Parts: sequence; C-alpha cells; structure tokens
Amino acid sequence: MYRPFVFMKFDIITIFPEIFASWSKESLIARAQKKKLLKIKAHNLRKWAKDRHKTVDDRPFGGGLGMVLKVEPIFKAVQKLKGRSRTPSKRKVILFTPRGKKFNQKMAYKFSKLEQMILICGRYEGVDERVAKHIADEKVSIGDYDLMGGEVAAMIVMETVARLIPGVIGKPQLLKERITKSRGFIEYPQYTRPEVFDPGKGKKKWRAPKVLLSGHHKKIDARRQKLGKVIE
Ligand code: ADE
Repeated sequence: MYRPFVFMKFDIITIFPEIFASWSKESLIARAQKKKLLKIKAHNLRKWAKDRHKTVDDRPFGGGLGMVLKVEPIFKAVQKLKGRSRTPSKRKVILFTPRGKKFNQKMAYKFSKLEQMILICGRYEGVDERVAKHIADEKVSIGDYDLMGGEVAAMIVMETVARLIPGVIGKPQLLKERITKSRGFIEYPQYTRPEVFDPGKGKKKWRAPKVLLSGHHKKIDARRQKLGKVIE
C-alpha cells in the first residue's frame, strides 16, 4: 500500500525550543510522529545569529520599552527551512502576533492540506515588522490578548491542525465527532462512569443524564444535537 512518508512538517522558529520538548513527546502528537504522519522540529533562532553572543534581539528604533527580535536571523532561518520543502505551493510561513488574523477551525482545515508550516514565534516586545511584511505568508493571532510569546499560540495551531490529518486521531471523525451536513463537527457534553458521583456529605449527588444510559440512540442523538456546539 502506498503511504506518503510524512504528511505535515512543522518547523518552529523560537528562542525557547525546550518549550516544545515534552508536549511533542506525549500522547497523540507523539504517536502521529512515530506513524510518520507528522514531523515536529523546534529550531533555536540563535543558531542563525551571526555574533559570538548569539544576539537575536535589539532595542526598538524610536525608543520604547523592551527588545525587538531582529529580522536577519529570522530571514536566514526561514530561508534554510524553506530549502527543505518538496512542494513550495504546499508550505506556509506563519508569524504569531496578536495583530494577526484570528485563528479558527476554518483556518485549521486550510492549513491541514499543507506539507510544511514554518511557525515563527515572537518574544519580548515584538518582532521587527519587516518579518510580517516580507517573510510571513500569514500573520495569525489565537485571540485578543497578549501572550509572552508565540510558543503557546504555535502549540494551539499545531494541535488543531494535527488532529485534522487523517490517521492522527485514529479512525477519522470517530465517536465524539458526529459530522454535520457541512464539514464541521459537533462538540457535546460527555459522561462516563460512575453513573452517580457523590461529592460528599450533605451534598446532592451528581447524576449522568439518564437518556445516555437508555440505549435509545435517536434520543441520545437529539440530546447531543441540542446541547452541542457545531465547530466549522
Ligand atoms: N503573541 C503574543 N500574543 C499572541 C496572540 N494572542 N496570538 C498569537 N501570537 C501572540
């Protein structure tokens, strides 16, 4: 049987590659890498710094607080990582910034068709704007709040995209995800044993909804449709 050797390569550019170490070694993300459906590599931006001190940041022009990540090491890093892609049309360079386009499931579907994503994680007070202007294909924000850097944003995007890659979460769209008419799916409240949980003396017991134990699949489905949220 024909099997492509890697479906998606995530190349992360960061000054804190260790942030990704345990995350990428756990659970489904680890299994997907073993199955060669994914490849995740966190690259230390300092590798592309040119001076002895491995400087990747500098003070902002015009003054102001904090430091700014320099354009040059990021430019070199992206050039190098682009050189490894087989199909340039199936690759995207993403810059994480709170000023970017808000990430959602639709974007994740689009990204899941790619072969390579180069993810640039900002830190400090920002990234030289020439990265956004000339290097990144897309600027992405995970929400209207300011993180300390793009690393957590990158993990969120990678998890969301990874689970759309066939084989990563086992049988496609199983159990929890009832496909709706569109390509979206429905997230509904779930319960498991025990049927009745006792939170302690004098407190009312917490019961799982009876209908879920009834074996009445039409009613179960109706409940899930009613309470679920469709993610598209
Ligand atoms: N970097 C800092 N805040 C961010 C956000 N909300 N989304 C993406 N990258 C960020």
